[in-house]
Amino acid sequence: MKFFLDTAELDEIRDLAATGLVDGVTTNPSLIAKSGRDFIDAVREICEVVDGPVSAEVTATDADSMIAEGRHLAAIAPNVTVKVPLTPDGLKACRRLADDGTMVNVTLCFSAAQALLAAKAGANFISPFVGRLDDIGADGMELIADIVDIYAAYPQFETEVLVASVRHVNHVIESAKLGADVATLPPQVLRQMFKHPLTDKGLAAFLADWEKTGQRILSEAPATHSLSHDAEPARRRA
Ligand code: G3P
Repeated sequence: MKFFLDTAELDEIRDLAATGLVDGVTTNPSLIAKSGRDFIDAVREICEVVDGPVSAEVTATDADSMIAEGRHLAAIAPNVTVKVPLTPDGLKACRRLADDGTMVNVTLCFSAAQALLAAKAGANFISPFVGRLDDIGADGMELIADIVDIYAAYPQFETEVLVASVRHVNHVIESAKLGADVATLPPQVLRQMFKHPLTDKGLAAFLADWEKTGQRILSEAPATHSLSHDAEPARRRA
């Protein structure tokens, strides 16, 4: 399963990309607004940090303007994936951009019917929003199961299921069990995935026992670069 980061925060992307676990990035207009960054500059910088697909969303609502915006965004870097909304105009733009050879992510998907249309329109990714479905009392994971089943029945579809609007680790695990191709994770969800109290406890015990031996593996301490997050609390406490 591929992990994308769902953020436009460069510091977070740099920090987590250093783990080698980040396969791409997704942004949307709300995330760009939250970052306070210039959209084009932010996308360019993210593309320099991450080799995989970086989604940048159009904001026009008619197909011709979406295509023009999409071509402008695609010219920023070869790994830009143009994000279009799941509307009739969005899917028209999807087809044209896909025919240009541009990667397209169809976003704001809330039904299996919509996912079927996006695959027929040549989308590289379909983004079902599981958290927002859960928010209204529906079942986001049921939608992922339906889309995975439908796409599996038609091997000619190359569209990858990109689970979006992820709110917690269980969304990721359930999506992985269903065989979804990608999950786009808010940074705090990826950080949470590292954590288990028994890992912290076990590591603290190993280090305490090792200290008693008085041994060192290396004679000199190597220069270290540790992640500036909570993934390794025991190591930092030790
Ligand atoms: O990138 C789209 C999606 O992941 C948004 O998530 O939390 O705003 O529903 P959320």
